Amino acid sequence: MAGELSPIDKAKFVAAKRAAQFVEDGMRVGLGTGSTAAWLVRCLGEMVRDDGLRIKGVPTSSRTAQLAREVGIEVISLDEAKWLDLTIDGADEFDGELNLIKGGGGALLQEKIVATASDQMVVIADIGKEVETLGAFPLPIEVIPFGWQTTQALVEETLISMDVLGRTSTLRMNGDIPFITDEGNYIMDLHLNRIGNARQLSLVINQMPGVVENGLFIDICDAVVIGFGDGRVEVRDINEGTVDRDRIDFVETDNLFSDLND
Ligand code: A5P
Repeated sequence: MAGELSPIDKAKFVAAKRAAQFVEDGMRVGLGTGSTAAWLVRCLGEMVRDDGLRIKGVPTSSRTAQLAREVGIEVISLDEAKWLDLTIDGADEFDGELNLIKGGGGALLQEKIVATASDQMVVIADIGKEVETLGAFPLPIEVIPFGWQTTQALVEETLISMDVLGRTSTLRMNGDIPFITDEGNYIMDLHLNRIGNARQLSLVINQMPGVVENGLFIDICDAVVIGFGDGRVEVRDINEGTVDRDRIDFVETDNLFSDLND
């Protein structure tokens, strides 16, 4: 079954599988959103079922909450957890300092709140997400629907004085209607191509009244688990300054793939 996965999906899977080893009995764990994080949730579900792992999961989206429940993970709210031991989530881009662009799945607001409320944030990603400079992936920002076009104009005007290459933005759509986040807001994607000063940009964007949050995660991520299509994984810990290499065997985990053909 694993042989039917594309190399990118294999890379996402092995990153998730390796990151699941960070999770210990009794932990309160932030569960990310997206296709890579979905692998993580499946892996943790398997550990709950087969190994008796006891964890409480705080999902970062309604999608993840549903999947977590389906695979048997106990789901609690962030307010019930209050603080988390660990959050594991995907990313759209990560750079050498483990600063991130997130929000490709539209869940950046809950993702940032949950990651910030965690002792440790671990990102899981295929090697294609690594960049020298953030910004090729459009930067998502969550905006309130009221006056969104005015907010968009303000954002684009502000970008003129920012260290970025592109300055256009688009409202994310879901077919013919705007994409709506779990919080009832819109997502605007900023086509910046290159972000010279991500820290400054993040601060400036968040000062605008119609903006709720942006998808730049600065100084939040502690480690990244990078997956490769051939089963190799690399764990980079920014605090320890370490790089560990490993390999994940697909065969023993075949049952995780059984629901993919549904
Ligand atoms: C969700 O809003 C995002 O932040 C995801 O974590 C990010 O888009 C990565 O998604 P994939 O794992 O599907 O690439």
